[in-house]
Amino acid sequence: MSTEYGNIPEETIDAVLKQHDIVETVGRFVHLTKQGKYMKGLCPFHSEKTPSFTVTPDRQIFYCYGCGMGGNAIKFRMEIEGLSFPEAVKIMAEEVHIPFQSTGGKPESPQDRETGRLLQAYEWSEKFYHFLLKNTEHGRPALEYLRGRGIGDKLIDQFRIGFAPDRWDTLVQFLDKRSFDLAEMEKGGLISARQSGDGYVDRFRGRIMFPIANRSGKTIAFAGRILGEGHPKYVNSPESRLFNKSRVLYNFDQARSAIRKQRQAILFEGYGDVIAAWEAGVHNGIATMGTSLTEQHAAMIKTAADEVLVCYDGDNAGQNAALKSIPILEQAGLQVKVAMLPAGVDPDDYIRSNGGERFVRQVVEDAASTTKFRLATLRRGYKLNEENGRLDYAKAALPVIAALGSPTEREVYLRELSSEVDVSFESLKQDCNLIRQEQSRPAPGQEDPGPAYSGPQPGGGGQYGGKGRGRGDYGNKGGFGKKGGFGGGNGYGNAAEEDFFPQQRRTRPNRDLLPAHQAAERRLLFLMLQDRQVCDYVAQRLGDEFNTPDYAAIAAYLYAFYAQDRDPDSSRFIASLQDEKLEKAVSSIVMMEGAREWSEQELDDCIKQIRSQGNLRSSGIERKREEMMRAEKDGDFLLAAQIASEIIALERQ
Ligand code: UTP
Ligand code: MN
Repeated sequence: MSTEYGNIPEETIDAVLKQHDIVETVGRFVHLTKQGKYMKGLCPFHSEKTPSFTVTPDRQIFYCYGCGMGGNAIKFRMEIEGLSFPEAVKIMAEEVHIPFQSTGGKPESPQDRETGRLLQAYEWSEKFYHFLLKNTEHGRPALEYLRGRGIGDKLIDQFRIGFAPDRWDTLVQFLDKRSFDLAEMEKGGLISARQSGDGYVDRFRGRIMFPIANRSGKTIAFAGRILGEGHPKYVNSPESRLFNKSRVLYNFDQARSAIRKQRQAILFEGYGDVIAAWEAGVHNGIATMGTSLTEQHAAMIKTAADEVLVCYDGDNAGQNAALKSIPILEQAGLQVKVAMLPAGVDPDDYIRSNGGERFVRQVVEDAASTTKFRLATLRRGYKLNEENGRLDYAKAALPVIAALGSPTEREVYLRELSSEVDVSFESLKQDCNLIRQEQSRPAPGQEDPGPAYSGPQPGGGGQYGGKGRGRGDYGNKGGFGKKGGFGGGNGYGNAAEEDFFPQQRRTRPNRDLLPAHQAAERRLLFLMLQDRQVCDYVAQRLGDEFNTPDYAAIAAYLYAFYAQDRDPDSSRFIASLQDEKLEKAVSSIVMMEGAREWSEQELDDCIKQIRSQGNLRSSGIERKREEMMRAEKDGDFLLAAQIASEIIALERQ
């Protein structure tokens, strides 16, 4: 959104970057030691014992191989000091005496000004409600209600909770006195128009007010809860130019640093759960706004976490909601675990009756894998005390287990199933293998094709190599058929980096291995970033046909960047992006350190590789993935498991 970033003239950003050397900027927070062309140190954005945080003076960027955080000097200050982009630029400009005007040559658009006024109104309303709760007679009953629920002053301040008195026009008058345009405020969702058409009334009356913030902590909506029982329990602000439910997560602004540190977010259903968990010391809790989780939510979480713990209510609705959220989170590349609460208990209740410590020990730390959770949900539909029930359950459970990529995992679940249904492990295993074979006809007998990643092979074999097997579990053997080029399997690597991070390299988890087409996309972007000729070449031949959406976006931005007649400059390019996910992606690509030389042959090879994946996708895998998601959403896990195996088979081809 433009106002969040302000209209800062590019010259200001350029000047700020020029005057703030990355090594100096980072060096004030991180102890750096020189290692060849790099500096390295312990990452300030996640906990680690061996340094994986690097700074490249040549390119004026930083990048952490551990958590993926990366960018230029402005980005570093934003993250370390919790600043928005304009705030960081302003502070950094002032530090080196560069005049800062946020509106530059371009005047702010009327839309920007309206957004600005609305943000201001939300901020004042939030403070007003908070004041009314804490300091007035009106707020007393609400204050007592909150205390009764274990929400004391500290939490009230932390979550900026407030109270809207049960009167018609408290907020209307407040805003009117401060010369806000009431029609504009109504459009922005703060107040309601009178039914009769003349005048305005408060939207929230007699409710406890929970402010909802955007990622930079600015209030953009409210959830108003009734005191005690009654309907509706919550009144939420309507969607507005500030507030889009499918893009906002409650408490994400406050939880972000804890999420980033732990690489894990806990996803709750209710505001109450988030707050109770916070009190229990669990600070990585977030929640949706009473709506289903969306892809945008998942992408937002992915900017800070690798794993999500889904912690919904222990009733049927909660479990079904979890089953819906899991594939969305997995699709975003997140690992997922599920906390199993006793039936009919929500996390808030659990914490209140068992204490925070037990919540952490017995719920958070004991979370189940998604497979375990799926099996548990499935099991509820069968009578395990009857033989038929047990056999039916086994039949239903086998495809779920058969769809698992790892033989070890399959074995674990088969053993468990064996004792549950009282059938020998051997016969279950046989059935399971049969299902796998049926589902992957094109490549029979490939029970365990061996390690996917066989390490970089010097010289490259002219092969893009690596047969995919299972989700995200690809090998990428060999290089790009070019001496010394880009031989690694994780898409970052070459020999130089290997020397630089031997220990990280060995311990990199499998999920970082990239499919060949993705490695080809990264290689192209890498070259495009440093050479506009490559960029033109790719623009003409491949255009926007990158398969990975983020890479397609980066390519589009790069085309635009060069179209403005600019020279290659990763740091400036990153500054122009203003999108955390893309910034990280570009930083990691810049850090790849592959050979800088290229030939048209190599570019053509990459383009061919990317295209063939595109064809593959349209020829079915992508469609199947969608079918699978749909089946999972509908709760049809048998079908989903079957489609999963079909996808594996297709990928093997
Ligand atoms: P819950 O009914 O579990 O609410 O709904 P809660 O947050 O735990 O509230 P307490 O503990 O009773 O005070 C879960 C979420 O569903 C949305 C809200 O986001 C809520 O946090 N919801 C629920 C609504 O939007 N409107 C409603 O009327 C009820
Ligand atoms: Mn609750």
